[in-house]
Amino acid sequence: MSKSNIGLIGLSVMGSNLARNIANHNFTVSVYNRTKARTDEFNNEHGNPHLVPTYSYSEFVKSLELPRKIIIMVKAGSAVDDVIYDLLPHLEDGDIVIDAGNSFYKDTQRRYKELKAKKIQFVGMGVSGGEEGALKGPSIMPGGDRKAWMTIAPILKAIAAKDFSSKPCVTYIGNDGAGHYVKMIHNGIEYAVMELMAEGYIILKNIYGLTSPQIADIFETYYKGKLNSYLFEISLPVLRRKDDLTGKGYLLDHILDRAGNKGTGQWASVDALQRGTSITSITEAVFARYESAEKNDRLKLAKLYPKKSYSKKLPLKSFIPLLENALYVAMISAYAQGYNLIQKTATEEKWNVNIAEVTRIWEGGCIIRAKLLNVFHKAYTQSNLKNSALLAVPEIIKLMKRNMADLQTFVEVVGGSGVSIPGFTSALFYFQNMTNKETSANFIQGLRDYFGAHTYERTDRDGTFHTSWFE
Ligand code: 6PG
Repeated sequence: MSKSNIGLIGLSVMGSNLARNIANHNFTVSVYNRTKARTDEFNNEHGNPHLVPTYSYSEFVKSLELPRKIIIMVKAGSAVDDVIYDLLPHLEDGDIVIDAGNSFYKDTQRRYKELKAKKIQFVGMGVSGGEEGALKGPSIMPGGDRKAWMTIAPILKAIAAKDFSSKPCVTYIGNDGAGHYVKMIHNGIEYAVMELMAEGYIILKNIYGLTSPQIADIFETYYKGKLNSYLFEISLPVLRRKDDLTGKGYLLDHILDRAGNKGTGQWASVDALQRGTSITSITEAVFARYESAEKNDRLKLAKLYPKKSYSKKLPLKSFIPLLENALYVAMISAYAQGYNLIQKTATEEKWNVNIAEVTRIWEGGCIIRAKLLNVFHKAYTQSNLKNSALLAVPEIIKLMKRNMADLQTFVEVVGGSGVSIPGFTSALFYFQNMTNKETSANFIQGLRDYFGAHTYERTDRDGTFHTSWFE
């Protein structure tokens, strides 16, 4: 019997769709799920000659060609370790195990090391695009041994989404945890971009008194312009959806204002704090979700601090293009923060990540795919730069100089209105701080040296100094 090209473990929606995507590209995939019932159900619904159901690890592993390529698509965390543990006794030297879930990159580093010692090649692979992307073409971020990447590349290139030049949205990211790290930052940027869009929505709703479909009409003009992106695309049906349950009004007005999260934004934020790098747009977006989740406290406090009406400083007609430009610049700032963290970490971890390539593979398939990514990618390639800070790439400098004043005006106009805009202010202040020759930190150093003899550096000579403040 001929052997399958690849195997996949975990037939939840993401796993099923990924297996079907691979099969649709004429590779044979053996599938295995913990419960037989799910494998049968999958086989009944989607059975085709390229999908081979198996019912034990031994049958699954025996059905695969050498070196075996095995994708694990189960819930991040201990479930991944459990599967690897059960799989290991059946594997041989040189087999490749690919974790395609949203795993924490430090877990991936640990697994990479443990499996390398057992002569198994481990790939930690970020996959973005949700259920639809898994089936029709995700953006794929594999990290691990380059040799393993070379072996699995033909399959990954076939199933990935396409970038703006019709090339596959997949590239080798770097060693051990690099792929999952880049996916974690993708998610952080996803949080920041969604926060900015949500702030735009609430401004138009509360300051300008617009209904959801009226906001959709404005967002549609953004979608057709330079803010063209998947998230703006899906915002339109979300804003226009009527409430089926009550038959009254729009669904958004019935959805509780309490945002959930599955932790990747928090991981990115904690990692940035530990590495001493600022990603304020991402952390503010995480905190905004946490604040939203404190609904009961908010309700109690709202009674104690009743809101006056929201103040409007600009007519809607002039506000619409201002918001568009503010969103544009703030999003660039958020991406710049994410890329900067990737670059700093890549240097520390010796991953050698190619940022220009990261911008390219996010052009299609992933949740944050947008026209803007093509702007970034072109800016990097035109300038022959691969790893410069985004804000230092010539085309981006021009773009920021042209539009930055609008973000400043926007923050000035909306800042005192009564609507909170942490996404916009953090994007602005990050940009201002990072492009400032002078900060106020000399003052902090003076205080630190006074109360704790923490020492300071000087502007006019090398070395570490302490002043005898009490003499
Ligand atoms: C993707 C998504 C997906 C999910 C994130 C964030 O790339 O397909 O990023 O992975 O949206 O995990 O989810 P939460 O908002 O629930 O944290």
